[in-house]
Amino acid sequence: MFWSIILALVLLGLIWTVIREGHPLDKLPGPKRPVVGSILEFIGSNPRKLFELQRKFAKFYGDRYVVRILKRRILHVHNPNDIEVILSHSKNISKSLAYSFLEPWLGTGLLLSTGRKWHSRRKILTPTFHFNILKNFTPVLEEKSTNLVRYLRQAGRREHDLFPLISDVTLYAICETAMGTQLDQDKSTASVEYKQAILQMGTLLVERVTKFWLHNDFIFQRTAIFQKYDKILNKVHSFADEVILERKKQRTQNGACDETEDAVGKKKRMAMLDLLLEAESKGEIDLAGIREEVNTFMFEGHDTTATALTFGLMLLADHEEVQERVREEIERVVGSRVPTMTDLGELKYLEAVIKETLRLYPSVPFIARTITEDFMLGDIMVPKNSEVAVHIYDVHRRPEIYPEPDVFKPERFLNGTTRHNYAYVPFSAGPRNCIGQRFAMLEMKSILCEVCRNFKLLPRTKGWRPALVSDLVLRSTDHIYVTFEPRTSEL
Ligand code: HEM
Repeated sequence: MFWSIILALVLLGLIWTVIREGHPLDKLPGPKRPVVGSILEFIGSNPRKLFELQRKFAKFYGDRYVVRILKRRILHVHNPNDIEVILSHSKNISKSLAYSFLEPWLGTGLLLSTGRKWHSRRKILTPTFHFNILKNFTPVLEEKSTNLVRYLRQAGRREHDLFPLISDVTLYAICETAMGTQLDQDKSTASVEYKQAILQMGTLLVERVTKFWLHNDFIFQRTAIFQKYDKILNKVHSFADEVILERKKQRTQNGACDETEDAVGKKKRMAMLDLLLEAESKGEIDLAGIREEVNTFMFEGHDTTATALTFGLMLLADHEEVQERVREEIERVVGSRVPTMTDLGELKYLEAVIKETLRLYPSVPFIARTITEDFMLGDIMVPKNSEVAVHIYDVHRRPEIYPEPDVFKPERFLNGTTRHNYAYVPFSAGPRNCIGQRFAMLEMKSILCEVCRNFKLLPRTKGWRPALVSDLVLRSTDHIYVTFEPRTSEL
Protein backbone atom coordinates (compact mmCIF):
# COMPACT_ATOMS: atom_id res chain seq x y z
CA MET A 1 0.00 0.00 0.00
CA PHE A 2 2.73 2.45 1.09
CA TRP A 3 4.80 1.84 -2.05
CA SER A 4 1.71 2.12 -4.30
CA ILE A 5 1.01 5.57 -2.86
CA ILE A 6 4.65 6.61 -3.38
CA LEU A 7 4.55 5.31 -6.98
CA ALA A 8 1.29 7.13 -7.67
CA LEU A 9 2.75 10.37 -6.27
CA VAL A 10 5.90 10.03 -8.40
CA LEU A 11 3.77 9.43 -11.52
CA LEU A 12 1.57 12.41 -10.74
CA GLY A 13 4.71 14.50 -10.24
CA LEU A 14 6.03 13.43 -13.63
CA ILE A 15 2.76 14.17 -15.41
CA TRP A 16 2.57 17.58 -13.75
CA THR A 17 6.13 18.29 -14.79
CA VAL A 18 5.36 17.51 -18.43
CA ILE A 19 2.18 19.57 -18.38
CA ARG A 20 4.13 22.53 -17.00
CA GLU A 21 6.39 22.75 -20.09
CA GLY A 22 6.28 26.34 -21.26
CA HIS A 23 7.95 27.63 -18.10
CA PRO A 24 9.81 30.84 -19.10
CA LEU A 25 13.18 29.42 -18.00
CA ASP A 26 12.81 26.46 -20.38
CA LYS A 27 13.80 28.83 -23.23
CA LEU A 28 17.33 28.92 -21.86
CA PRO A 29 19.99 26.35 -22.76
CA GLY A 30 20.96 23.58 -20.40
CA PRO A 31 21.36 19.82 -20.23
CA LYS A 32 18.54 17.83 -21.91
CA ARG A 33 15.27 17.82 -20.00
CA PRO A 34 12.98 15.00 -21.11
CA VAL A 35 10.25 14.37 -18.49
CA VAL A 36 12.37 14.09 -15.34
CA GLY A 37 14.70 16.92 -16.29
CA SER A 38 18.48 16.66 -16.02
CA ILE A 39 18.44 14.14 -13.18
CA LEU A 40 20.20 11.46 -15.25
CA GLU A 41 23.24 13.74 -15.65
CA PHE A 42 23.80 13.56 -11.91
CA ILE A 43 23.06 9.91 -11.09
CA GLY A 44 26.29 8.07 -10.29
CA SER A 45 28.13 11.36 -9.94
CA ASN A 46 30.42 12.33 -7.09
CA PRO A 47 31.47 15.72 -5.68
CA ARG A 48 34.54 15.92 -7.91
CA LYS A 49 32.60 15.05 -11.10
CA LEU A 50 29.87 17.48 -10.08
CA PHE A 51 32.38 20.30 -9.67
CA GLU A 52 33.86 19.56 -13.11
CA LEU A 53 30.42 19.24 -14.70
CA GLN A 54 29.44 22.70 -13.46
CA ARG A 55 32.60 24.21 -15.00
CA LYS A 56 31.86 22.36 -18.25
CA PHE A 57 28.25 23.62 -18.33
CA ALA A 58 29.40 27.22 -17.78
CA LYS A 59 31.75 26.98 -20.78
CA PHE A 60 29.39 25.02 -23.02
CA TYR A 61 26.05 26.75 -22.41
CA GLY A 62 27.34 30.27 -21.82
CA ASP A 63 26.24 32.97 -19.38
CA ARG A 64 22.89 31.50 -18.34
CA TYR A 65 21.80 27.89 -18.23
CA VAL A 66 19.01 26.00 -16.57
CA VAL A 67 19.18 22.64 -14.85
CA ARG A 68 15.80 21.00 -14.32
CA ILE A 69 15.31 18.30 -11.73
CA LEU A 70 11.70 17.07 -11.80
CA LYS A 71 9.72 20.27 -11.30
CA ARG A 72 12.64 22.34 -9.95
CA ARG A 73 14.23 24.86 -12.32
CA ILE A 74 17.63 26.07 -11.23
CA LEU A 75 18.98 29.00 -13.22
CA HIS A 76 22.79 29.17 -13.13
CA VAL A 77 24.57 32.46 -13.83
CA HIS A 78 28.17 33.69 -13.88
CA ASN A 79 28.00 36.99 -15.76
CA PRO A 80 28.57 40.16 -13.66
CA ASN A 81 25.50 41.95 -15.12
CA ASP A 82 23.20 39.06 -14.17
CA ILE A 83 24.89 38.68 -10.77
CA GLU A 84 24.25 42.37 -10.10
CA VAL A 85 20.52 42.05 -10.88
CA ILE A 86 20.20 39.01 -8.59
CA LEU A 87 22.34 40.02 -5.63
CA SER A 88 21.15 43.61 -5.49
CA HIS A 89 17.45 42.62 -5.51
CA SER A 90 15.91 43.87 -2.28
CA LYS A 91 13.11 41.26 -2.07
CA ASN A 92 14.66 38.05 -3.41
CA ILE A 93 16.78 37.38 -0.37
CA SER A 94 15.58 33.86 0.57
CA LYS A 95 18.14 31.07 0.55
CA SER A 96 17.59 27.95 -1.58
CA LEU A 97 16.67 24.43 -0.46
CA ALA A 98 20.33 23.36 -0.23
CA TYR A 99 20.85 25.53 2.88
CA SER A 100 18.11 23.75 4.82
CA PHE A 101 20.55 21.01 5.97
CA LEU A 102 22.17 23.63 8.17
CA GLU A 103 18.95 24.62 9.90
CA PRO A 104 18.99 22.09 12.78
CA TRP A 105 22.36 23.58 13.79
CA LEU A 106 22.04 27.27 12.96
CA GLY A 107 18.27 27.70 13.31
CA THR A 108 17.10 30.72 11.37
CA GLY A 109 20.05 32.89 12.34
CA LEU A 110 21.41 35.59 10.04
CA LEU A 111 22.64 33.19 7.34
CA LEU A 112 19.39 31.29 6.91
CA SER A 113 16.64 33.71 7.92
CA THR A 114 14.62 35.80 5.51
CA GLY A 115 12.04 38.59 5.43
CA ARG A 116 11.44 40.67 8.55
CA LYS A 117 13.43 38.39 10.85
CA TRP A 118 16.52 38.77 8.65
CA HIS A 119 16.10 42.58 8.46
CA SER A 120 15.80 42.94 12.20
CA ARG A 121 18.76 40.60 12.96
CA ARG A 122 20.98 42.31 10.38
CA LYS A 123 20.23 45.65 12.06
CA ILE A 124 21.13 44.28 15.50
CA LEU A 125 24.31 42.51 14.34
CA THR A 126 25.78 45.15 12.00
CA PRO A 127 27.37 47.21 14.85
CA THR A 128 29.22 44.05 16.03
CA PHE A 129 31.47 44.34 12.97
CA HIS A 130 32.02 48.10 13.16
CA PHE A 131 35.65 49.25 12.92
CA ASN A 132 35.67 50.43 16.55
CA ILE A 133 34.41 47.07 17.82
CA LEU A 134 36.76 45.07 15.60
CA LYS A 135 39.68 46.86 17.27
CA ASN A 136 38.82 44.96 20.47
CA PHE A 137 39.34 41.66 18.68
CA THR A 138 42.85 42.36 17.33
CA PRO A 139 44.64 41.21 20.53
CA VAL A 140 42.88 37.81 20.22
CA LEU A 141 43.82 37.51 16.55
CA GLU A 142 47.40 38.52 17.32
CA GLU A 143 47.59 35.98 20.15
CA LYS A 144 46.32 33.13 17.95
CA SER A 145 48.81 34.12 15.22
CA THR A 146 51.78 34.17 17.62
CA ASN A 147 50.71 30.84 19.14
CA LEU A 148 50.79 29.35 15.64
CA VAL A 149 54.25 30.80 15.02
CA ARG A 150 55.49 29.44 18.36
CA TYR A 151 54.17 25.98 17.51
CA LEU A 152 55.80 26.05 14.06
CA ARG A 153 59.13 27.32 15.43
CA GLN A 154 59.18 24.51 17.99
CA ALA A 155 58.54 22.01 15.18
CA GLY A 156 61.64 23.30 13.32
CA ARG A 157 62.05 23.14 9.52
CA ARG A 158 59.25 20.74 8.64
CA GLU A 159 56.49 20.05 6.17
CA HIS A 160 52.91 20.52 7.50
CA ASP A 161 49.50 19.46 6.23
CA LEU A 162 47.98 22.95 5.96
CA PHE A 163 44.24 22.58 6.44
CA PRO A 164 44.13 20.82 9.84
CA LEU A 165 46.88 23.12 11.13
CA ILE A 166 45.10 26.32 10.09
CA SER A 167 41.59 25.14 10.83
CA ASP A 168 42.51 24.80 14.53
CA VAL A 169 43.76 28.39 14.58
CA THR A 170 40.65 29.87 12.95
CA LEU A 171 38.39 27.79 15.20
CA TYR A 172 40.18 29.08 18.31
CA ALA A 173 40.02 32.65 16.97
CA ILE A 174 36.28 32.67 16.23
CA CYS A 175 35.42 30.82 19.44
CA GLU A 176 37.17 33.42 21.54
CA THR A 177 35.93 36.44 19.60
CA ALA A 178 32.35 35.17 19.28
CA MET A 179 31.82 33.46 22.64
CA GLY A 180 34.77 34.56 24.76
CA THR A 181 35.85 30.92 25.21
CA GLN A 182 39.50 29.93 24.88
CA LEU A 183 39.31 26.45 23.37
CA ASP A 184 43.12 26.30 23.08
CA GLN A 185 43.64 27.06 26.80
CA ASP A 186 40.57 25.49 28.34
CA LYS A 187 41.26 21.77 28.62
CA SER A 188 37.94 20.94 30.32
CA THR A 189 36.07 17.95 28.87
CA ALA A 190 33.25 20.21 27.67
CA SER A 191 35.65 22.41 25.65
CA VAL A 192 37.57 19.50 24.17
CA GLU A 193 34.31 17.80 23.21
CA TYR A 194 32.94 21.03 21.72
CA LYS A 195 35.97 21.44 19.48
CA GLN A 196 35.65 17.86 18.27
CA ALA A 197 31.91 18.26 17.81
CA ILE A 198 32.27 21.38 15.62
CA LEU A 199 34.79 19.61 13.38
CA GLN A 200 32.68 16.41 13.20
CA MET A 201 29.58 18.47 12.47
CA GLY A 202 31.26 19.83 9.34
CA THR A 203 32.26 16.32 8.23
CA LEU A 204 28.77 14.89 8.76
CA LEU A 205 27.08 17.77 6.95
CA VAL A 206 29.47 17.31 4.03
CA GLU A 207 28.55 13.62 3.94
CA ARG A 208 24.88 14.53 3.75
CA VAL A 209 25.36 17.23 1.09
CA THR A 210 27.41 14.97 -1.14
CA LYS A 211 25.17 11.85 -0.92
CA PHE A 212 21.95 12.85 -2.68
CA TRP A 213 19.87 10.00 -1.13
CA LEU A 214 20.53 11.51 2.31
CA HIS A 215 18.91 14.79 1.24
CA ASN A 216 15.50 13.40 2.08
CA ASP A 217 14.76 13.91 5.81
CA PHE A 218 12.73 10.68 6.05
CA ILE A 219 15.64 8.57 4.76
CA PHE A 220 18.33 10.57 6.56
CA GLN A 221 16.63 10.20 9.95
CA ARG A 222 16.81 6.41 9.61
CA THR A 223 20.58 6.25 9.08
CA ALA A 224 23.47 5.72 11.51
CA ILE A 225 24.86 9.09 10.35
CA PHE A 226 21.75 10.80 11.69
CA GLN A 227 22.19 9.13 15.13
CA LYS A 228 25.73 10.47 15.27
CA TYR A 229 24.69 13.87 13.94
CA ASP A 230 21.91 14.19 16.51
CA LYS A 231 24.30 13.38 19.37
CA ILE A 232 26.84 15.94 18.17
CA LEU A 233 24.15 18.55 17.60
CA ASN A 234 23.06 18.19 21.23
CA LYS A 235 26.64 18.69 22.40
CA VAL A 236 27.13 21.81 20.26
CA HIS A 237 23.85 23.33 21.40
CA SER A 238 24.31 22.59 25.09
CA PHE A 239 27.88 23.98 25.09
CA ALA A 240 26.69 27.20 23.41
CA ASP A 241 23.76 27.45 25.85
CA GLU A 242 26.04 27.05 28.85
CA VAL A 243 28.47 29.68 27.61
CA ILE A 244 25.63 32.12 26.91
CA LEU A 245 24.01 31.62 30.33
CA GLU A 246 27.34 31.82 32.18
CA ARG A 247 28.26 35.04 30.36
CA LYS A 248 24.86 36.51 31.11
CA LYS A 249 25.33 35.64 34.81
CA GLN A 250 28.77 37.32 34.86
CA ARG A 251 27.37 40.43 33.23
CA THR A 252 24.61 40.62 35.81
CA GLN A 253 27.19 40.28 38.60
CA ASN A 254 29.90 42.57 37.19
CA GLY A 255 27.82 44.95 35.09
CA ALA A 256 28.33 45.43 31.36
CA CYS A 257 31.90 46.46 30.54
CA ASP A 258 34.61 45.66 27.99
CA GLU A 259 36.30 43.14 30.27
CA THR A 260 34.47 40.87 32.67
CA GLU A 261 35.77 38.45 35.30
CA ASP A 262 35.01 34.75 35.31
CA ALA A 263 34.27 32.60 38.41
CA VAL A 264 37.96 32.53 39.47
CA GLY A 265 38.48 36.23 38.90
CA LYS A 266 40.33 35.84 35.56
CA LYS A 267 39.82 38.75 33.14
CA LYS A 268 37.75 37.92 30.07
CA ARG A 269 37.92 40.01 26.93
CA MET A 270 34.85 41.39 25.25
CA ALA A 271 33.20 38.99 22.80
CA MET A 272 30.54 39.31 20.12
CA LEU A 273 28.29 37.55 22.62
CA ASP A 274 28.51 40.56 24.95
CA LEU A 275 27.04 42.76 22.24
CA LEU A 276 24.23 40.26 21.73
CA LEU A 277 23.55 40.17 25.48
CA GLU A 278 23.48 43.96 25.44
CA ALA A 279 20.79 43.75 22.73
CA GLU A 280 18.96 41.15 24.83
CA SER A 281 18.88 43.50 27.81
CA LYS A 282 17.14 46.05 25.55
CA GLY A 283 14.59 43.42 24.48
CA GLU A 284 15.85 43.33 20.84
CA ILE A 285 16.68 39.61 20.79
CA ASP A 286 15.98 36.65 23.10
CA LEU A 287 18.33 33.89 24.34
CA ALA A 288 17.17 31.44 21.63
CA GLY A 289 18.04 34.10 19.04
CA ILE A 290 21.47 34.63 20.60
CA ARG A 291 22.12 30.89 20.35
CA GLU A 292 21.23 30.98 16.62
CA GLU A 293 23.65 33.84 15.98
CA VAL A 294 26.50 32.41 18.05
CA ASN A 295 26.19 29.09 16.17
CA THR A 296 26.02 30.98 12.85
CA PHE A 297 29.25 32.87 13.62
CA MET A 298 30.96 29.64 14.65
CA PHE A 299 29.96 27.99 11.37
CA GLU A 300 30.55 30.93 8.99
CA GLY A 301 33.60 32.24 10.76
CA HIS A 302 35.87 29.22 10.89
CA ASP A 303 35.82 27.00 7.79
CA THR A 304 35.69 29.95 5.36
CA THR A 305 38.82 31.64 6.71
CA ALA A 306 40.66 28.31 7.16
CA THR A 307 40.05 27.45 3.50
CA ALA A 308 41.18 30.86 2.27
CA LEU A 309 44.34 30.77 4.41
CA THR A 310 45.18 27.24 3.28
CA PHE A 311 45.01 28.21 -0.40
CA GLY A 312 46.79 31.50 0.35
CA LEU A 313 49.74 29.78 2.04
CA MET A 314 49.88 27.24 -0.80
CA LEU A 315 50.10 30.03 -3.41
CA LEU A 316 52.67 31.99 -1.41
CA ALA A 317 54.86 28.89 -1.09
CA ASP A 318 54.65 28.43 -4.84
CA HIS A 319 55.56 32.06 -5.67
CA GLU A 320 58.82 32.99 -3.98
CA GLU A 321 58.89 36.48 -5.51
CA VAL A 322 55.40 37.29 -4.12
CA GLN A 323 56.41 35.98 -0.71
CA GLU A 324 59.53 38.15 -0.72
CA ARG A 325 57.46 41.25 -1.60
CA VAL A 326 55.05 40.46 1.25
CA ARG A 327 57.97 40.11 3.68
CA GLU A 328 59.53 43.41 2.54
CA GLU A 329 56.20 45.19 3.01
CA ILE A 330 55.82 43.79 6.55
CA GLU A 331 59.37 44.85 7.40
CA ARG A 332 58.72 48.37 6.09
CA VAL A 333 55.26 48.92 7.61
CA VAL A 334 55.35 46.90 10.83
CA GLY A 335 59.03 46.24 11.55
CA SER A 336 59.43 44.15 14.66
CA ARG A 337 56.40 45.62 16.45
CA VAL A 338 53.17 43.80 17.21
CA PRO A 339 51.00 44.99 14.27
CA THR A 340 48.13 47.31 15.15
CA MET A 341 44.88 47.39 13.23
CA THR A 342 46.17 50.50 11.40
CA ASP A 343 49.39 48.63 10.45
CA LEU A 344 47.34 45.74 9.08
CA GLY A 345 45.25 48.23 7.08
CA GLU A 346 48.44 49.54 5.45
CA LEU A 347 49.61 46.13 4.23
CA LYS A 348 48.23 46.77 0.73
CA TYR A 349 50.29 44.16 -1.09
CA LEU A 350 49.33 41.47 1.43
CA GLU A 351 45.71 42.55 0.93
CA ALA A 352 46.13 42.08 -2.86
CA VAL A 353 47.54 38.58 -2.19
CA ILE A 354 44.47 37.67 -0.11
CA LYS A 355 42.10 39.14 -2.72
CA GLU A 356 43.79 37.22 -5.53
CA THR A 357 43.63 34.03 -3.42
CA LEU A 358 39.89 34.53 -2.93
CA ARG A 359 39.49 35.19 -6.66
CA LEU A 360 41.08 31.87 -7.57
CA TYR A 361 39.74 29.95 -4.58
CA PRO A 362 36.58 31.64 -3.26
CA SER A 363 35.79 29.89 0.04
CA VAL A 364 32.09 30.04 -0.91
CA PRO A 365 32.17 29.04 -4.61
CA PHE A 366 28.46 29.57 -5.23
CA ILE A 367 25.41 30.92 -3.48
CA ALA A 368 21.80 30.12 -4.19
CA ARG A 369 18.42 31.75 -3.74
CA THR A 370 14.79 30.67 -3.96
CA ILE A 371 12.90 33.30 -5.90
CA THR A 372 9.96 34.69 -3.94
CA GLU A 373 9.02 37.49 -6.34
CA ASP A 374 9.05 37.34 -10.19
CA PHE A 375 11.81 39.48 -11.70
CA MET A 376 13.29 40.24 -15.13
CA LEU A 377 16.80 39.20 -16.04
CA GLY A 378 17.28 41.10 -19.30
CA ASP A 379 14.45 39.80 -21.47
CA ILE A 380 13.90 36.61 -19.42
CA MET A 381 11.26 36.47 -16.72
CA VAL A 382 12.46 34.52 -13.68
CA PRO A 383 9.29 33.40 -11.95
CA LYS A 384 8.56 32.89 -8.26
CA ASN A 385 9.56 29.44 -6.89
CA SER A 386 12.44 28.96 -9.32
CA GLU A 387 15.97 28.83 -7.88
CA VAL A 388 19.03 30.80 -8.92
CA ALA A 389 22.67 29.77 -8.38
CA VAL A 390 25.36 32.45 -8.65
CA HIS A 391 28.71 30.88 -9.50
CA ILE A 392 31.33 33.02 -7.80
CA TYR A 393 34.03 30.56 -8.88
CA ASP A 394 33.18 30.98 -12.58
CA VAL A 395 32.80 34.77 -12.66
CA HIS A 396 36.22 35.01 -11.00
CA ARG A 397 37.80 33.04 -13.84
CA ARG A 398 36.25 34.81 -16.84
CA PRO A 399 39.14 35.48 -19.23
CA GLU A 400 37.74 38.75 -20.61
CA ILE A 401 37.77 40.18 -17.05
CA TYR A 402 40.86 38.42 -15.73
CA PRO A 403 43.35 37.72 -18.56
CA GLU A 404 45.22 34.42 -17.92
CA PRO A 405 42.51 33.63 -15.35
CA ASP A 406 44.22 30.62 -13.77
CA VAL A 407 47.44 32.50 -13.03
CA PHE A 408 48.08 33.92 -9.54
CA LYS A 409 48.80 37.65 -9.97
CA PRO A 410 48.16 39.82 -6.88
CA GLU A 411 48.97 42.88 -9.05
CA ARG A 412 45.45 42.59 -10.48
CA PHE A 413 44.28 44.16 -7.23
CA LEU A 414 46.81 46.98 -7.19
CA ASN A 415 47.18 50.06 -9.41
CA GLY A 416 43.49 50.97 -9.17
CA THR A 417 42.40 48.56 -11.94
CA THR A 418 38.69 49.11 -12.52
CA ARG A 419 36.22 46.33 -13.29
CA HIS A 420 32.50 45.64 -12.98
CA ASN A 421 31.42 45.90 -9.31
CA TYR A 422 29.97 42.38 -9.45
CA ALA A 423 32.93 40.76 -11.22
CA TYR A 424 34.62 40.13 -7.87
CA VAL A 425 32.24 38.88 -5.17
CA PRO A 426 34.01 36.46 -2.76
CA PHE A 427 31.95 37.90 0.10
CA SER A 428 28.79 38.11 -2.05
CA ALA A 429 27.33 41.61 -2.51
CA GLY A 430 24.09 43.52 -2.06
CA PRO A 431 21.90 43.31 1.04
CA ARG A 432 22.96 39.73 1.95
CA ASN A 433 26.68 40.21 1.65
CA CYS A 434 29.03 38.74 4.25
CA ILE A 435 28.66 40.63 7.52
CA GLY A 436 32.00 39.23 8.72
CA GLN A 437 34.17 40.29 5.78
CA ARG A 438 36.15 42.98 7.59
CA PHE A 439 36.74 40.64 10.51
CA ALA A 440 37.83 37.90 8.07
CA MET A 441 40.29 40.20 6.27
CA LEU A 442 41.74 41.31 9.59
CA GLU A 443 42.16 37.74 10.77
CA MET A 444 43.75 36.55 7.52
CA LYS A 445 46.13 39.53 7.46
CA SER A 446 47.11 39.00 11.08
CA ILE A 447 47.93 35.30 10.56
CA LEU A 448 49.72 35.76 7.21
CA CYS A 449 51.70 38.71 8.57
CA GLU A 450 53.08 36.65 11.48
CA VAL A 451 53.74 33.56 9.35
CA CYS A 452 55.49 35.43 6.50
CA ARG A 453 57.78 37.41 8.77
CA ASN A 454 58.88 34.28 10.64
CA PHE A 455 59.07 31.64 7.90
CA LYS A 456 60.04 31.03 4.35
CA LEU A 457 57.40 28.81 2.75
CA LEU A 458 58.33 26.08 0.29
CA PRO A 459 55.97 23.98 -1.85
CA ARG A 460 56.17 20.18 -1.97
CA THR A 461 56.00 20.26 -5.79
CA LYS A 462 56.48 23.53 -7.66
CA GLY A 463 53.47 24.46 -9.82
CA TRP A 464 51.20 21.74 -8.38
CA ARG A 465 47.52 22.65 -8.06
CA PRO A 466 44.95 20.54 -6.16
CA ALA A 467 41.70 19.14 -7.59
CA LEU A 468 38.70 20.95 -6.11
CA VAL A 469 35.27 20.06 -4.82
CA SER A 470 32.51 22.18 -3.40
CA ASP A 471 30.68 21.04 -0.27
CA LEU A 472 29.98 23.46 2.56
CA VAL A 473 32.94 25.46 1.28
CA LEU A 474 35.45 25.04 -1.56
CA ARG A 475 37.87 22.24 -0.73
CA SER A 476 40.91 20.51 -2.12
CA THR A 477 40.51 16.75 -2.62
CA ASP A 478 44.21 16.33 -1.74
CA HIS A 479 46.12 17.30 1.38
CA ILE A 480 48.15 20.46 0.78
CA TYR A 481 51.67 20.32 2.20
CA VAL A 482 53.99 23.28 2.73
CA THR A 483 57.41 23.36 4.38
CA PHE A 484 57.91 26.10 6.98
CA GLU A 485 61.57 27.13 7.13
CA PRO A 486 62.23 29.41 10.13
CA ARG A 487 63.91 32.68 9.15
CA THR A 488 67.11 33.09 11.09
CA SER A 489 66.04 36.22 12.89
CA GLU A 490 62.52 37.09 13.89
CA LEU A 491 61.53 40.51 12.55
C1 HEM B 1 37.26 34.25 3.91
C2 HEM B 1 36.25 34.32 4.75
C3 HEM B 1 34.81 34.44 4.39
C4 HEM B 1 34.21 34.35 3.15
C5 HEM B 1 34.86 34.09 1.80
C6 HEM B 1 32.79 34.56 3.38
C7 HEM B 1 31.84 34.57 2.36
C8 HEM B 1 30.49 34.76 2.58
C9 HEM B 1 29.50 34.73 1.53
C10 HEM B 1 29.76 34.49 0.04
C11 HEM B 1 28.30 34.96 2.11
C12 HEM B 1 26.94 34.98 1.43
C13 HEM B 1 26.32 33.61 1.60
C14 HEM B 1 25.00 33.45 0.92
O1 HEM B 1 24.42 34.39 0.38
O2 HEM B 1 24.52 32.32 0.95
C15 HEM B 1 28.52 35.13 3.54
C16 HEM B 1 27.53 35.41 4.46
C17 HEM B 1 27.76 35.51 5.81
N1 HEM B 1 28.97 35.47 6.46
FE1 HEM B 1 30.77 35.24 5.58
N2 HEM B 1 32.56 34.76 4.71
C18 HEM B 1 33.77 34.71 5.36
C19 HEM B 1 33.98 34.88 6.73
C20 HEM B 1 33.02 35.17 7.64
C21 HEM B 1 33.26 35.39 9.06
C22 HEM B 1 34.63 35.41 9.71
C23 HEM B 1 32.04 35.57 9.64
C24 HEM B 1 31.68 35.87 11.08
C25 HEM B 1 32.49 36.21 12.01
C26 HEM B 1 31.04 35.47 8.60
C27 HEM B 1 29.68 35.58 8.81
C28 HEM B 1 28.75 35.57 7.81
C29 HEM B 1 27.31 35.69 8.06
C30 HEM B 1 26.64 35.81 9.41
C31 HEM B 1 26.69 35.66 6.80
C32 HEM B 1 25.21 35.82 6.51
C33 HEM B 1 24.94 37.29 6.25
C34 HEM B 1 23.49 37.60 5.87
O3 HEM B 1 22.84 36.80 5.22
O4 HEM B 1 23.04 38.70 6.25
N3 HEM B 1 31.67 35.23 7.41
N4 HEM B 1 29.86 35.01 3.80
